[in-house]
Amino acid sequence: MNLKYRKTIIAGNWKMNKTITEAKTFADAIKPQLGRHKWCEVVLCVPGVNIPGMVRLFKDTRVAIGGETCHYEASGAFTGEVTVEMLKDVGAKYVIIGHSERRQYYNETDFTVNKKVHAALEAGLRPIVCVGESLEQRELGVTEELISYQVKVALAGLSDTQVRRVVVAYEPIWAIGTGKTATAEQAGAVCTHIRTIIRKQYGARVARAVTIQYGGSMNAKNAAELLAQPDIDGGLIGGASLKPDDFMAIINAANQE
Ligand code: 13P
Repeated sequence: MNLKYRKTIIAGNWKMNKTITEAKTFADAIKPQLGRHKWCEVVLCVPGVNIPGMVRLFKDTRVAIGGETCHYEASGAFTGEVTVEMLKDVGAKYVIIGHSERRQYYNETDFTVNKKVHAALEAGLRPIVCVGESLEQRELGVTEELISYQVKVALAGLSDTQVRRVVVAYEPIWAIGTGKTATAEQAGAVCTHIRTIIRKQYGARVARAVTIQYGGSMNAKNAAELLAQPDIDGGLIGGASLKPDDFMAIINAANQE
């Protein structure tokens, strides 16, 4: 983390979990413990249908609510999809774009990711753009090339001001939901690489302002070590964000520096 130049952001990705009734139990457990998170921003990205309820549940707190995906078109015949304006309208502040599960199951490509990033920023939402390699790609030694490509295409055509509002989440696919975390050094090295790519394209001032998260089996135990890496500015947390105590422990780890 580098608290001088950028915000630390701890974001939960609830994926396809929790009804709004279950979310209320979570909110009741976590709300009394919030408020001490001075430095870091806390976000919960939840299924679209639950966003209005979540915004209500967390309205007196500093927790921002986000979506897990969006479409890039403003309207039209795209059954089942939601637009960025719809997300904005129900109170979302963030939206995850290009999660590896979306890339794997719903044919998202780097080019649709780029269109969605543009749409989100134009609507005033902060995109959390996910990039990351598979185990096979890591073993082949192409992680850096792949990440460079994903980041460059995702950010193509954005202004400097827009890039500053993007959150990049480095999520190695082999670490998601597997209990297998990248070591702090492995994760830190890729996050530093991401900042280098942004620096080359947009300059040092923009690069140092961008929040870069790590995601993939981040939990109460390993969060502090990961967050101690200079270019890891937060986490995108799946499983552990569903449990109030675990999620709170990660928030507290972010506030320890
Ligand atoms: P886990 O924390 O469950 O590994 O999930 C990470 C993730 O995919 C967050 O987007």
